[in-house]
Amino acid sequence: MERTFLAIKPDGVQRKLVGEIIRRFETKGFTLVGLKLMNVSRELAETHYGVHRERPFFAGLVDFITSAPVVAMVWEGEGVIASARKIIGATNPLNSEPGTIRGDFGVNVGRNLIHGSDAPETAQQEVSLWFKDEELVNWQPAL
Ligand code: CMP
Repeated sequence: MERTFLAIKPDGVQRKLVGEIIRRFETKGFTLVGLKLMNVSRELAETHYGVHRERPFFAGLVDFITSAPVVAMVWEGEGVIASARKIIGATNPLNSEPGTIRGDFGVNVGRNLIHGSDAPETAQQEVSLWFKDEELVNWQPAL
């Protein structure tokens, strides 16, 4: 079954939006298989955002993601990678549709509340970067 990596960023945690954000993926029907509140090391942040290393916002992005706790999650379900991206909304909250997480709660591209893997390959890489195998729980909803 498909899995994706999602992280509620420091702004989402500080604004007490953790429950609201998790609710959106649960009520959609996806299954939570990994969850931890954690402080992010600079090494992890720089690896995770390595593709943006040459961008002018890279240093600020790493500073921000390491500034306060993050909620790291793995969600499972059919089509979860693309569906989660829709639930999250466009990267810049000013362009995100109302009804999406970023559209409903954000206005700033650097404070866009949540990260979601953008494709199957990155989802696999990010799940294994952030979680050990034994931190993931294999279970199926009964209904
Ligand atoms: P995310 O989905 O976590 O992936 C890369 C992040 O870089 C993105 O969300 C934004 O938070 C951040 N980002 C992208 N563009 C900019 C920008 N112009 N200024 C600051 N941060 C940005």
